[in-house]
Amino acid sequence: MFIPPIHPSQIAAPSREIYAYMGDDNVIAMLRDFYRELEKSPIRGMFSADMQAAADKSALFFIGLLGGPPLYHNKYGNPMMRARHMPFSINQAGRDEWLACFNRVLDRAVEKYSFPSQHLAGFREFLSGFSLWMMNSE
Ligand code: HEM
Repeated sequence: MFIPPIHPSQIAAPSREIYAYMGDDNVIAMLRDFYRELEKSPIRGMFSADMQAAADKSALFFIGLLGGPPLYHNKYGNPMMRARHMPFSINQAGRDEWLACFNRVLDRAVEKYSFPSQHLAGFREFLSGFSLWMMNSE
């Protein structure tokens, strides 16, 4: 078992202003495009067949994270993301692929989903740190 050399409290959360610029529809569209990238990636096999359902479930989490209503929390309880990722073996290579997929989507996020450009670097930083927290395998 790989234990990341960090604690989640050391990872700065993304700005909670982001949701106010984007709204539900743009967060959902961004996550659907992210899952389309995952679908084409070498880690596709980790994910369920129904990528749109998986994207929409993840979008509920990101809506809350970015400052919107706690939809994921209300529906599924405490996110406990590291624990929820334990059924999957996530190593450095998997983390890199996951991040590359998200970063490709973020390259177009200002124009496509009204992502506020002043918060883009902070969000990329958060994903980098939090994805390290998700690693559970060497
Ligand atoms: C480090 C690389 C990561 C990998 C390889 C990975 C992989 C996965 C997989 C395989 C699932 C299950 C999807 C399904 O049911 O089809 C999942 C779910 C999810 N992941 Fe990740 N993940 C990673 C990082 C992250 C990070 C950094 C976040 C948040 C910032 C995140 C948020 C989520 C959410 C919200 C779900 C849905 C949870 C649920 O099913 O209740 N993941 N992830």
